[in-house]
Amino acid sequence: MTTDSPGPDADFATLEGPVLVVGGAGYIGSHTVRALEARGVPVVVFDDFSTGHPEVVKAPLVRATLGDREALKEAFARWAPRAVMHFAARCYVGESVTDPSTYYRENVINAWNLLEAMRDAGCQELVFSSSCATYGIPVALPLTEDNPQVPINPYGRTKLHMEHMMEDYSNAYGLRYAALRYFNAAGAAPEGDLGEDHTPETHLIPLVLGVALGHRPAIDIFGNDYPTPDGTCVRDYIHIVDLADAHLRALARLQAGRPALACNLGTGQGYSVREIIETARRITGHPIPERIAPRRPGDPPELVSGGTRAFEVLGWQPRHSELKDILADAWRFHQAHPRGYSR
Ligand code: UFG
Repeated sequence: MTTDSPGPDADFATLEGPVLVVGGAGYIGSHTVRALEARGVPVVVFDDFSTGHPEVVKAPLVRATLGDREALKEAFARWAPRAVMHFAARCYVGESVTDPSTYYRENVINAWNLLEAMRDAGCQELVFSSSCATYGIPVALPLTEDNPQVPINPYGRTKLHMEHMMEDYSNAYGLRYAALRYFNAAGAAPEGDLGEDHTPETHLIPLVLGVALGHRPAIDIFGNDYPTPDGTCVRDYIHIVDLADAHLRALARLQAGRPALACNLGTGQGYSVREIIETARRITGHPIPERIAPRRPGDPPELVSGGTRAFEVLGWQPRHSELKDILADAWRFHQAHPRGYSR
């Protein structure tokens, strides 16, 4: 894979649809659908609602799983998408360790089904949700794209398999792709109507806000003896609106004929678990009791994005990712949907 020189700012005017958004009913997918629609780009959502939410889908919908190759074929025949954004995957590190079979089926085999359907239909543009989990233990921090990709769990391995498949399809069949390696997606639409709703919820920010809402008595801090300034894990939290914006830029770049791209999406700023809880106390006005719990297996002490590739090649920079803004937007969503979208 090669990267080329800067695209100083994306020309959104050149964005062309329809875009098939696979997993468009999920957390990151639904915010990206909104960003595409706000730019007037036609969207078709492909989702089986295994983890996504019917409530968030306003666009034309294909309700099917990627395991259903006939449904995929029909979707490409009916909607003739110009491009695909692929968000549909399992995304829990711990679950991937105990149930790798599901991860290889959904994140690799189903992704291959999608690549084949695209190839059969002559659809050549793909923006893919990859992950900082493809790097494994960072060799150096902050983590740049030059860090070796040596994932330490099945989740990270499945994401890396897809990166490799895309690279090979690009070389052999002309697929043009962007692999976006997210750090910690967080926050919610500022309008308060779209946000994070997973079952079960394992992510720190919604769990912390769940304590503020009285759903659980305290937040467990998974380990306070890490080699970090306050002993708790440090992560790079990126606002979901910034993340969605990067997808549009990546697509615009592909549609402008630029080469394949892999880049990190993070802010370069790390926050500890304690800093998240402390900021959530300020935003919510709730004491948010905490308990020290054992380390969670597979958690690296610190993951913070480094480098400037996303800025250089996408003209992207985070605009909404101040921690207080992430938490304020997430809090607005959780107050409006205290039990999630449909509960
Ligand atoms: N944490 C707690 N208590 C909790 C929940 C989380 O202390 O109740 C800690 C975790 O140990 C971690 C930090 O908060 O140190 C963030 O945890 P999250 O579960 O919110 O996020 P992760 O960093 O584990 O996960 C993110 C993405 C995954 C991706 C992973 C790659 O959400 O999809 O990074 O490392 F796989």
